Amino acid sequence: METIPRLAASAPTGDVVAGLREHGAVIVEGVLSQGLLARFNAEIDPILEQVRPDRSYLNPAVDYFYGKRVRQITGVASRSRVFGEEILCHPFYAGVCDAILLPSCSRYQLNVAQVMDRGPGAEQQLLHRDEDVWVHLPRPHPEVQLASVIALVDFSAELGATVVAPGSHRWERGRQPEPEELACAEMPAGSAVVYLGSTIHAGGANTTDRWRRGMHMSFVVGWLRTEDNNYLSTPPQVARSLPRRSQELLGYAAHDAIAAGGGYLGTVDLLDPVDLLAQGKL
Ligand SMILES: [Fe+2]
Repeated sequence: METIPRLAASAPTGDVVAGLREHGAVIVEGVLSQGLLARFNAEIDPILEQVRPDRSYLNPAVDYFYGKRVRQITGVASRSRVFGEEILCHPFYAGVCDAILLPSCSRYQLNVAQVMDRGPGAEQQLLHRDEDVWVHLPRPHPEVQLASVIALVDFSAELGATVVAPGSHRWERGRQPEPEELACAEMPAGSAVVYLGSTIHAGGANTTDRWRRGMHMSFVVGWLRTEDNNYLSTPPQVARSLPRRSQELLGYAAHDAIAAGGGYLGTVDLLDPVDLLAQGKL
């Protein structure tokens, strides 16, 4: 099998970015401290209890992709203060996103945060590239997405750790990985496998009798339509109590490309919505 480069969260951002550009994915240990992880899991516990793994989604293809043994929570910023105040604006992600996404936009934003609790018997997902949701985007294109799966419990192969094809961000579109070209992101809780939108991967099969709790968290350039409708998932009455940086990452900030010869996106009454939130006008 292949391997995924492994770093500590304290490693220089440049090392993480270099690993991403070279291999398409890196494992970063200790992104969430044990205390932060415990507080987040404690907030998530009662919410997950309410989620049915056999729920339906908006399309049968999505039902098939997620299967009937996975409990999901989206809109995490409106359901977890720990996420909204700390994890969303975590400095580790800021450093990596600044390097990977900022060259292609004026500001980046959260695409989606999605707790995925993969239950006993959950099958391996189809191997995919996350950025393929934007199928209309011409190729080649600069990096538009920085994605990750954070282990909220220890990830082992048997429990369904994320499977990755290192180097696949450089492959021609039609090439599928051979089994020996795949690597398994085994890692302790609080670690993250961080990957580019163009890197082939899948949630692994859970062959144990335990749940594999993880969270997909990804960011995209600020001019791209996000998967989760973050303004509705975290509406103004919730967003206004979050830090300004979180509001910006949820997409409330205008995308100002004037300096690059572009224009404004996402204004309200031709003003910046984060300013309106601060003024109590939104
Ligand atoms: Fe994915």
